[in-house]
Amino acid sequence: MTILPGLLDTEAIRKDFPILDRTVHDGKKIVYLDSAATSQKPRQVLDALNAYYERHNANVHRGVYTIAEEATALYEGARDKVAAFINAPSRDEVIFTKNASESLNLVANMLGWADEPYRVDHETEIVITEMEHHSNIVPWQLLSQRTGAKLKWFGLTDDGRLDLSNIDEIITEKTKVVSFVLVSNIMGTINPVETIVRRAQEVGALVVIDASQAAPHMVLDVQALQADFVAFTGHKMCGPTGIGVLWGRQELLEDLPPFLGGGEMIETVSMHSSTYAPAPHKFEAGTPPIAQAVGLGAAVDYLTSIGMENIARHEHAITQYAVRRLQEVPDLRIIGPTTAEDRGAAISFTLGDIHPHDVGQVLDEQGIAVRVGHHCARPVCLRYGIPATTRASFYLYSTPGEVDALIEGLEHVRNFFG
Ligand code: ALA
Repeated sequence: MTILPGLLDTEAIRKDFPILDRTVHDGKKIVYLDSAATSQKPRQVLDALNAYYERHNANVHRGVYTIAEEATALYEGARDKVAAFINAPSRDEVIFTKNASESLNLVANMLGWADEPYRVDHETEIVITEMEHHSNIVPWQLLSQRTGAKLKWFGLTDDGRLDLSNIDEIITEKTKVVSFVLVSNIMGTINPVETIVRRAQEVGALVVIDASQAAPHMVLDVQALQADFVAFTGHKMCGPTGIGVLWGRQELLEDLPPFLGGGEMIETVSMHSSTYAPAPHKFEAGTPPIAQAVGLGAAVDYLTSIGMENIARHEHAITQYAVRRLQEVPDLRIIGPTTAEDRGAAISFTLGDIHPHDVGQVLDEQGIAVRVGHHCARPVCLRYGIPATTRASFYLYSTPGEVDALIEGLEHVRNFFG
């Protein structure tokens, strides 16, 4: 058994995740290396979801009866937990959405309908990066098409980092918003937030951070990031699907217009016009994802009980080990940083000229679950001249033994394809 410094007690942690005991393909124990796509869920989250539906289910903010008040307290309690988890100055800055994509679309649309000084129009510019997930590209393309604003982006270096050498030409006095990913979902690169934020602040641009691959894995402090908006999703951090978060600075949430209209986001409605509820409700039209928020609250409790620093240390050790072992595999090329220092726990690679879909299929036959494809970050594949990658990603329950299983699995793939 490989022992690495900094590892969590995975034997105990894995007991919390029933699915990790599953077998596939005639008794092969599952080796789950796709947590960047979605994490597995601990019993504590599953129990919270069940308890909510079995004992407290009702609509929120509407009922005067007991279980409706309980449901409201649980839903709003989840907001308190998330606010504390990200060190938000106020709980009212935490908006619940469906997922990170919705959070990013929400910001793009808030800005799209905004008046000065936030207005995005044909005289202004939007800045993103070539490393973005499609969810942080397409909403800005749509905004650019609708307003005439120019869309610009940072390119990538050969080793999978942002090329910031021309930062002063990319972010200019015309830039209204800079939106970038904190940790790349495809390459694992951790980006230099401070440098980008400093330049954005110099020109008075708003900063949006996609923290989908950061919130599950490291301490996320929105005040330390100094961003204006931070988006992430619940299902990658041990929570259920169907719940995302957009954190935004209070004054912005007060000033910016809503995107979706409907129940619960209003103050008054007449047939001629409406006035809106204060944030966060202004941005949560309709019945929200109540059970999902409660599940996310339980996930936050779970991660907090283990400690985000401990989780980060564990993943760092596993990632360092995985990078080293993968580099020993003949014909394997890591797409992204090969140092463990400035990377997260998602590692993409190609294996000779074997198509990643074939790699994934042969690994699956051995019970190993990885993601293959362009990972919703197709411009990265285009940049490196590859159609797709195989991606292994790790989390708090991942073990060095699972890295060893991947390496053996890849050996099997190489033998299979001669
Ligand atoms: N965004 C998820 C991933 O990177 C689905 O796999």
